[in-house]
Amino acid sequence: MLNIGIIGAGRIGKVHAESITYHVKEAGVLAIADPFMNAETEKWAKDLGIKKVSKDYRSILQDPEIQAVLICSSTNTHADIAIEAIKAGKHVFCEKPISQDLAKIKEVMEALKGTGLKFQVGFNRRFDHNFEAVREAVKTGKIGDVHVVKITSRDPDAPSLDYVKVSGGIFLDMTIHDFDMTRYLSGSDVEEVYVNGACLVNPAIAECGDIDTAIITMKLANGALAVIDNSRKAAYGYDQRAEVFGSKGQVAVTNDAPSTAVISTENGVTGEKPLYFFLERYMASFSKEVSLFAQAVINNTPVPVDINDGLQPVLIAKAAAKSMKEGRPVKLSEIEF
Ligand SMILES: NC(=O)c1ccc[n+]([C@@H]2O[C@H](COP(=O)([O-])OP(=O)(O)OC[C@H]3O[C@@H](n4cnc5c(N)ncnc54)[C@H](O)[C@@H]3O)[C@@H](O)[C@H]2O)c1
Repeated sequence: MLNIGIIGAGRIGKVHAESITYHVKEAGVLAIADPFMNAETEKWAKDLGIKKVSKDYRSILQDPEIQAVLICSSTNTHADIAIEAIKAGKHVFCEKPISQDLAKIKEVMEALKGTGLKFQVGFNRRFDHNFEAVREAVKTGKIGDVHVVKITSRDPDAPSLDYVKVSGGIFLDMTIHDFDMTRYLSGSDVEEVYVNGACLVNPAIAECGDIDTAIITMKLANGALAVIDNSRKAAYGYDQRAEVFGSKGQVAVTNDAPSTAVISTENGVTGEKPLYFFLERYMASFSKEVSLFAQAVINNTPVPVDINDGLQPVLIAKAAAKSMKEGRPVKLSEIEF
């Protein structure tokens, strides 16, 4: 059983704490730390059976009973905490993105080199049952050589402007998952990105220097083409679909809904809207990714999403931002790393 310390008790820190406690048999949460720990969160943690609650993540790094940490704090803290954790000899599971700053990712890679410690990045969508099935069809050659990857990724509602201002922009905040999906589903790296973007949901997002709607096309290293279609607001809910088309056929998945009930009357045929957002749609994937991380630590086997898998979507996001700014296709090789 792997003893885990969770750093950051915000939205995703709580999701992981609960999913590990209830669904991950290989690991337990021994400690949780957050500088803004309040009485309510402390009670929630104690009720969950977490023995050590603190305001200082260093208490976790210094704890000899803890073998691995989950970094669930705000993005701008990930890299520095990861480096400290590695130096303290802890295996690391780091929420996405490792950093918005490529130089910081490089520092984490340097710190990790030669330590033998595991480092996994929280690209949880890889463990969604639908996308796993798409990957499996591609990997086993059922659709032949990959020619086209199509990803639809639309949120149910735009975030607050305060969030948009510090998010790092749509590509680093939202599309980063879709960039990872492109690599995962195709089994190939991305070589070139071209973006058409617009602000159609909320004009105030443009005033923050961001966009809320994007069509992103990519050329992949294996010769295939990919397209991502993003919106910050889909009126019918969280729209998360993917299709891979190849020389022998295609594989596609649609949205998950609370039920598959379809009501047919003289007025028409209706079904349920998609599950509302990522907490509903991807809940099972959060426990699966941590379960596989724990197995990798316990059995000393490779993690399923390694540090290069954490780096690549950030490089693609940087290329996408450059393409948006300069109105031209941008090769990943143009991004300095
Ligand atoms: N994989 C996913 O689908 C997914 C979903 C949501 C968030 N995330 C990522 O998780 C991270 C956190 O997002 P969130 O939505 O939970 O944000 P949040 O603001 O709800 O929580 C972040 C928490 O980190 C705490 N924190 C800040 N500095 C800290 C430090 N030095 N030590 C310990 N705790 C610290 C804050 O007090 C806050 O409670 C972000 O990097 C985000 O990109 C990933």
